[in-house]
Amino acid sequence: MKNILVIGSTGQIGSELTMKLRREIPGSTVVAGYIPGAEPKGELLKSGPSEVADVRDGQGLADIVARYDIDTVYNLAALLSAVAERKPLMAWDIQMNGLINILEVARERRCAVFTPSSIGSFGPSTPHKGTPQDTIQRPRSMYGVTKVATELLSDYYFFKYGVDTRAVRFPGLISHVTLPGGGTTDYAVEIFYSAVCGEEFVCPIAAGTFMDMMYMPDALKAAVDIMQADPSRLVHRNAFNVASMSFDPEIISAAIRKRIPSLKMRYEIDPVRQAIADSWPDSMDDSCARAEWDWKPSYDLDAMVDDMIANLRRKLL
Ligand code: SER
Repeated sequence: MKNILVIGSTGQIGSELTMKLRREIPGSTVVAGYIPGAEPKGELLKSGPSEVADVRDGQGLADIVARYDIDTVYNLAALLSAVAERKPLMAWDIQMNGLINILEVARERRCAVFTPSSIGSFGPSTPHKGTPQDTIQRPRSMYGVTKVATELLSDYYFFKYGVDTRAVRFPGLISHVTLPGGGTTDYAVEIFYSAVCGEEFVCPIAAGTFMDMMYMPDALKAAVDIMQADPSRLVHRNAFNVASMSFDPEIISAAIRKRIPSLKMRYEIDPVRQAIADSWPDSMDDSCARAEWDWKPSYDLDAMVDDMIANLRRKLL
């Protein structure tokens, strides 16, 4: 991995992943791909090249890949689960037509491709506790449908054309840098902003609803490590379960209240998000990632909560 294109570089994952790759991959050129209206700013803009990279424009992608001699594409363009339920056709267009555009360019130019999957790729008939790597995937959300199809299509391009596709199934991601936009797990980020700003938090997800969550530094590490893993050790490719913590709203609010006792929370359940959350795993088994590329998270719940609060206090107060 040397010349890298990050598509969706101003989004929740991309904004931090682009900077990490620029810092940590020696001699790399990391192109920040964005869509008009979501231009890179500040350090992201200043620290390297940026280009309009709309996944729906295959020729545009091919031009960037050729111009920068790109060898690795991080495809982070997606509508998250709750938004995708409101705009299913747009989600399909971005997640599926966009993906095949990228895979075609990758096939022609021999690029590696990372397109994340998600806990959203599972559904109501999936075993919810200790969800295995290889199990039933029959999601009922459009987001989930596109994520399962992403896994299958990415594997297809590997087996049929030898395109080096690899990915992980991300849990809900928690970060103090860029807010997520319209996911089911967003509450686990928003509760921190309410706590630090002294506002009441209105929780859209019911008590007792467990989901896998992960602190962003671990998610970024997973995204980089999987692309650098020794391919001869990989039995799986698209996509690996990765896990670090699982909680429900009561557990996360109690962990925050230990540090910010004034946090007030009440429930106002969003039926769309709740139905999605109920269909997702409570906790995934990530033993294949641990065995095949030495995946190991650094943050547990307490370490994440400490770091989130310290960083948000610096940012917001
Ligand atoms: N965080 C995503 C969502 O909630 C799941 O991958 O949609």
